[in-house]
Amino acid sequence: MARITLRQLLDHAADHGYAVPAFNISNMEMGLAIMTAAREADAPVILAASRGARAYAGDRLLARLIDGLVETFPEVPVCMHLDHGNALATCATAIQHGFTSVMMDGSLLADGKTPADYAYNMDITRRVTEMAHACGVSVEGELGVLGSLETGMGDQEDGHGATEKLSEEQLLTDPAEAEQFVKDTGVDALAVAMGTSHGAYKFTRQPDGEILAMSVIEEINRRLPDTHLVMHGSSSVPEDLQQVINSYGGDIRPTWGVPVDEIRRGIRSGVRKVNIDTDNRMAMTAGVRRVLSETPGEFDPRKYLKEGKALMQDLCKARFEAFGTAGHASRITPLPPEAMAARY
Ligand code: G3H
Ligand code: 13P
Ligand code: ZN
Repeated sequence: MARITLRQLLDHAADHGYAVPAFNISNMEMGLAIMTAAREADAPVILAASRGARAYAGDRLLARLIDGLVETFPEVPVCMHLDHGNALATCATAIQHGFTSVMMDGSLLADGKTPADYAYNMDITRRVTEMAHACGVSVEGELGVLGSLETGMGDQEDGHGATEKLSEEQLLTDPAEAEQFVKDTGVDALAVAMGTSHGAYKFTRQPDGEILAMSVIEEINRRLPDTHLVMHGSSSVPEDLQQVINSYGGDIRPTWGVPVDEIRRGIRSGVRKVNIDTDNRMAMTAGVRRVLSETPGEFDPRKYLKEGKALMQDLCKARFEAFGTAGHASRITPLPPEAMAARY
């Protein structure tokens, strides 16, 4: 069994100059695609479950799915991570179900929609950190609100994100405040805001420094060289997947994601965790659409899910290679949570 905490995994990544993709998971096919890619690439991985995923699969089933994946792929260190926790209870129940890492996203209030102030964010994140560290579980916090520098809008697509128009001050993490936040809360990793948002519609053109402010990450890394930084909304929204989906009856409007080269630039400046969900959703959808369109008589879910799984596996493997994660699984010996708890 190779379950690992986020802290141990990202410490290893920092020591060796790579980043670990956090792939969202909500069903078995996604889990198999990610884990098979990780095995092929000899890469450790972060499996991220959102509140939506927990509601979709149910905590019991999700926990057992992860147990099954960890047992089936014993050579892959797996960090089981809660994505965008909104409250202390959400984080505590994730820990009860075997998560080795939780994100307390206090950039928004518990409704997951209203931007919070610094005092709220700091207080809730610090309380979650105290609770999680006592269990040997790692914590990711977030400072700054995800959303578009082009439109000023927060995430509109998946139920978690600001619904009001945001100022540039809210959309860009303040580096001095980041320094204070890490000191005040004791988080193991910090998610920062610099123009990315969740979903397929991040940018209306190839992003430049105006709308994807990688310089913010560089400045935060200069002030906090030992803090593991996290990039959310890091799907690249590949054009070839857009085309496959559209050529089989889909309707993806012209859009741009975060170029892999920009993520690699972030990795050179302390980014150690890169969140990707949309790309995998698109890969799965592209495969399923292709099979169902080309063989309209097909009604065996295994046949069309297999094709989606294969495209998702290719995408995950490409990201492990691009982020330098490949080749590191066999070099890590996961410590049990008790050993991690003793460190805090
Ligand atoms: O946080 C964003 C991820 O893409 C998860 O999305 O809340 O629809 O599961 P979700
Ligand atoms: P994408 O929507 O860009 O894949 O981002 C996922 C994410 O940040 C999950 O927390
Ligand atoms: Zn996110």
